[in-house]
Amino acid sequence: MIEKESIFLKALNKETLPVPPIWYMRQAGRYMPEYRAVRKNFKNFLDMCKEPEVCCELALQPIKAFELDSAILFSDILTIPDAMGLDVNFLEGEGPVFGNPIKTARDVLDIEDFDTESLSYVYKAVTNIKNALPTHIPLIGFCGSPWTLAAYSIEGRSSKDFLFTRSFIKENNVEAHIFLEKLTNACFAYLKRQIEAGADVIQIFDSWANLLSEEEYKIYSLSYITKLISLLKKDPTTKNIPVILFSREPKAKLQTIMTSNSDCLSLYWSMNNIDLDQTADKVAIQGNLNPEILLESNDVIKRETLKILQKYKNYPGYVFNLGHGITPNINPEKIKYLTDLIRSI
Ligand code: CP3
Repeated sequence: MIEKESIFLKALNKETLPVPPIWYMRQAGRYMPEYRAVRKNFKNFLDMCKEPEVCCELALQPIKAFELDSAILFSDILTIPDAMGLDVNFLEGEGPVFGNPIKTARDVLDIEDFDTESLSYVYKAVTNIKNALPTHIPLIGFCGSPWTLAAYSIEGRSSKDFLFTRSFIKENNVEAHIFLEKLTNACFAYLKRQIEAGADVIQIFDSWANLLSEEEYKIYSLSYITKLISLLKKDPTTKNIPVILFSREPKAKLQTIMTSNSDCLSLYWSMNNIDLDQTADKVAIQGNLNPEILLESNDVIKRETLKILQKYKNYPGYVFNLGHGITPNINPEKIKYLTDLIRSI
């Protein structure tokens, strides 16, 4: 049997396609009743991530419901700090809370070395999902950016402004960089194992890029993402795997972000005035419908989606996605409507 080729991999390879490939950030999650039915069996979200069979079922739910063009590993970015002994818990209605966050410079020096094999539950999930997927549907593996992982680990929880983290990195600058370096090496080892287990594409989530000025961004975030991508591009096992970089509303210019050498930029929903002449043939683009539009009527969804499709119609390498994750208040019918709409045009 001839394998159908993946349009997602073609787009990441900067091909212009008649219909863009589609997947959605946070495509598996609480907005789906079938997810909630599984989720209710676990008190702590991370305990659910530690069950590879369950992760496989959850990753496949949106593929079955909407026939998307890529799956994403079901896991979380905070598995690495948890494996470093920072004790990550997800409390009802609060998001992540660290039992043992980085509070002092000394804590950075005392942190456990990252044991890549302590996350073998993630690599098992990757292999299970890969085996369950049709051959033309790729699987995305992922990690948080070193900066985003550091921000959660120092703050100890989600926050709007991460004030403690921002003063910590200035007051303990040497240790902040030691920590970012440790996280970068951990991310590389972790992604390499995901790729060995079957991941076809990698996405790096820099979800807190927005906290930094352009100068700070270069120092605390971009330099480590660039190092991580260069490690991936040098290793024979990982060098051919496309890397997507999602940055949440960075203050830095796109030109600056492009120096990371990612293969594709995943645009936050507010990033809609970018100069495509500067990115074309250098990076693929993924994005960027505002997820809140999915709370509107079908007419509004159609109008806003057409604007985006028009903009990227001839772009060499375009992947349709949202400009951030699907939130729990979105009706799955809207995801179905949006997906069918894009394919009907
Ligand atoms: O389809 C998928 O995308 C599922 C895999 C996935 C999850 N988290 C599952 C999850 C992925 C790729 C992530 C990435 C992630 N995790 C990010 C980067 C993406 C982004 O949104 O910017 C971040 C910042 C996290 C950290 C995290 N995980 C937070 C802050 C929270 C709590 C807030 C929330 O949305 O609930 C989580 C929990 C989480 N991760 C859930 C899921 C399905 C919900 C947990 C639940 O059911 O209780």
